[in-house]
Amino acid sequence: MLYKTEPKILAEIIEPPNTVINSLWDSIKKSTIPYNKNLSGQIEKELVLDGENESIRQYFNSLIISSKLAENRIRRLSELWQAIDNKRNLPDIYLGDMWVNFQKKHEYNPPHTHTGIFSFVIFLQIPYYNKDESKISNSVNSRKSLNGNFCLIDLSLDAYDHNFEVDKSWEGKGFFFSSDQIHCVYPFYSSNEERITVSGNIYFK
Ligand SMILES: [Fe+2]
Repeated sequence: MLYKTEPKILAEIIEPPNTVINSLWDSIKKSTIPYNKNLSGQIEKELVLDGENESIRQYFNSLIISSKLAENRIRRLSELWQAIDNKRNLPDIYLGDMWVNFQKKHEYNPPHTHTGIFSFVIFLQIPYYNKDESKISNSVNSRKSLNGNFCLIDLSLDAYDHNFEVDKSWEGKGFFFSSDQIHCVYPFYSSNEERITVSGNIYFK
């Protein structure tokens, strides 16, 4: 494959500890306020979560220190923003916003970016398996089934993109990526249960 530019890391797969996952479920139980007006998702139920989640903040604080993706992002930013010159001189981070999506059958998240420096998505409940999605009539004869996939898009790489077959086996995992990374979620069809994911944006103070 020919690249116009060097291949870059579009996202890192993360697997937060149970303490983080449990604190997210606790936040979800308390969430009531719709967040749809701030989001691109074609999803009926999207709720804001409390951003003052110390277990999440600490998790990403230590992840950023060891992350190659974070290093690349900071290097790109430092060309624009002289205050950040290296990882040893990083300002503290904070969660600018965090929300939960309850995606139902046929709903989807179109290609979009986030605000902030870094963003994440954590898959808490995925109610389908890729093997079942690939049997749905809309994709059964296609070159590749995309139903229910999580997609990363990078137009600088000759429209090279990555489709991840995120299904039930991904519960508890997620992606960490630059906030300007284009991504999307395709609809699923094989389950009447909700696909529950938490997303958020990380900023420097
Ligand atoms: Fe997103």
